[in-house]
Amino acid sequence: MNILYYCTFSNQNEFLKALKKKFKSHKIYTLNDKIELDKIEVALIWNLPDKILKKLINLKIVFSLGAGVDHILKLSSYKNTPIIRIQDQNMRARMLNHVLSQILNYQLKLNEYHIAQDKKIWLEERYTALNKDLTIGVLGLGYIGNFVAQNLKNLDYNIIGYKNSYKKRNSSIRIYYKNSLRNFLQSSDIVVSILPATNETKDLINKSFLKKMKKKSLLINIGRGSSLNEIDLLQHISKNPNFFASLDVFKKEPLPKKHEFWKNRNITITPHIAAITDVDSAVDYMFFKFEQFRIKGKIKSEVKIKNGY
Ligand code: GLV
Repeated sequence: MNILYYCTFSNQNEFLKALKKKFKSHKIYTLNDKIELDKIEVALIWNLPDKILKKLINLKIVFSLGAGVDHILKLSSYKNTPIIRIQDQNMRARMLNHVLSQILNYQLKLNEYHIAQDKKIWLEERYTALNKDLTIGVLGLGYIGNFVAQNLKNLDYNIIGYKNSYKKRNSSIRIYYKNSLRNFLQSSDIVVSILPATNETKDLINKSFLKKMKKKSLLINIGRGSSLNEIDLLQHISKNPNFFASLDVFKKEPLPKKHEFWKNRNITITPHIAAITDVDSAVDYMFFKFEQFRIKGKIKSEVKIKNGY
């Protein structure tokens, strides 16, 4: 089976090496090799240009090298090829750590001490809320969101969730559905968005959404930058000095040097690192799925294409 690898991660070579080792009896091509693209049946990709996808006319299965699949679905040459995406315990464990770090940074007011340290000021102690007194609203309860929510709950935070569609589930977490967004936001001290990029989530976090949140609160966005209206957030912060945001994803990445976010004291920026793809476990996962496909000759897509995630 001819496999194409295309990846824009900074560790793309390390990834390729690990893939070659695991898929040892199969040849993995890159665009640097002499290959006929119409012979490719399997693509392992991150940010593949549309003009290449267009030439993969015999493609049978696509693997996303991350959890998100928006980089594939947005390509105009993408039809309905089944997609497998990374579902990895290490990735969601990292996501949880990242969320927890941002919650604690806000909850314990650590930034204030950091700023004071620069000025050599010994601050008076500050009151900090206990976990049981904070309600965290998790937007998007998929493979990662659900794990984050459950684990935060185990740490004694009050957890509520928001989902677009009703699905019967065994969960100890209170879930709000589509038309109860207002109640969900009004009840949350911290909102964590783990939403994928779809038509429905585009600019969902806008002026009216932010207005429904508590004036004194924290928004953590670790889903996709497309769900946040960045101008609305800046305006909201300018009117609400106790509103904070921790952002890992942006409309344009890397975040342009001229972007207003860089100098806003209420915004913490991390460069899309909340859940990096873990090479070894991602490669194991892809190989497992690849073997299933090779033996059975077909595979069920892990992505509901019409939902966009
Ligand atoms: C990262 O954002 C991913 O989708 O894996």
